[in-house]
Amino acid sequence: MSKNPLFATRASRMKASEIRELLKLLDQPGIISFAGGIPDPALFPADAFSQAFQAALGPQTQAQALQYSVSEGYVPLREWLVQHMREIGVTCDIDNILITSGSQQALDYLGKLFLSPGDTALVGWPTYLGALAAFNAYEPQFDRLNGNSGAAEYKAAAGDGAVKFAYLSADFANPTGETLDRQGREALLDLAEELDCAIIEDGAYQALRYDGDPIPPILSLELARKGSIENCRTIYCGSFSKTLSPGLRMGWVVAPKPTISQLVLLKQAADLHSATINQMAVHDVAQACFDSHIPQVRAVYQNRRDVMLDALEQHMPDGVEWTRPEGGMFIWVTLPAGVSGSELLARALDTVKVAFVPGQAFFPDGSGANTIRLSFSNSDEAAIREGIRRLGEVLRA
Ligand SMILES: Cc1ncc(COP(=O)(O)O)c(C=O)c1O
Repeated sequence: MSKNPLFATRASRMKASEIRELLKLLDQPGIISFAGGIPDPALFPADAFSQAFQAALGPQTQAQALQYSVSEGYVPLREWLVQHMREIGVTCDIDNILITSGSQQALDYLGKLFLSPGDTALVGWPTYLGALAAFNAYEPQFDRLNGNSGAAEYKAAAGDGAVKFAYLSADFANPTGETLDRQGREALLDLAEELDCAIIEDGAYQALRYDGDPIPPILSLELARKGSIENCRTIYCGSFSKTLSPGLRMGWVVAPKPTISQLVLLKQAADLHSATINQMAVHDVAQACFDSHIPQVRAVYQNRRDVMLDALEQHMPDGVEWTRPEGGMFIWVTLPAGVSGSELLARALDTVKVAFVPGQAFFPDGSGANTIRLSFSNSDEAAIREGIRRLGEVLRA
């Protein structure tokens, strides 16, 4: 696509997301899709939301619900989040929290706040495609977080720019499903100290653990070292998308107050505030049923993960390997060397109507051609068994 010469240089770095383009094709009948990492709509607490929106539009609160509001976010929702963060090991107060329009917006703002052109962002190899897209607009270079480099090597590779942050999902990452163990989290904190850089901890899937013991968030481990969130370099991004509803676009950032103040300025310039009525409804629903709803969501996804793992065991030919995630929505499959995920997708769509995401898109350098991401969250048991059976058939062929 030729770009308008009037566009800024950063526009040339922006590419259409392979996932979004693909999702457009998936409306065809008969497709079994393991592509989008999206929640099952049957699990949305729709009745609770219906009541919450009606209540917000009632005579007492309609003026507030439909009015402009403060950029930091709806106070009762931020108060609920203070409590929620405490439950996962993070002590903070309401002034450490900014409500964002999805955690995706938080990633964009953090890219804008930290990255000058040429600065380095350390990311997983592979990592969440949406984070790469958000950061990429600010013209950084990416370096590999899960390589074996130490601080000196990272600094040397950064050249004239600085290493500004390390970005990761410590729990059930998108796309690999993998979790960073406690030792790895502590080591990352040590590395960030040496590099004097921030850590952006993406907790999008944090609540979706199916087995194994919870590991404290990186921010919680840093708090144990430093006593107060004001001394921490870790910035935590949370989301209601995977637990309650992605359509309402509700996320949050937890950070030291000076960082929140800067983010508030960015939010004022970008969209003033997140939708008032959505914040009120999410608060209402979170307060009424978050704790009872999450176990139901976990039970459904846990079963789907187990079914997919079982089907992979049964149908994948020799030489194919995959992760065994303790939570989240994804299984990451490594095909034998030389087998291309993109070609497999083209063939699978064409011959057996199965969709997934080729892994290459998740690597900043376009490597990983022989990987694919499978999502188990939005297919029922029968579809998972049948889809993986068909995929095994195509791979054998
Ligand atoms: C790791 C990760 N972070 C952030 C997001 C963005 O989520 P949202 O903007 O809906 O909160 C996603 C969405 O898929 C994700 O997988």
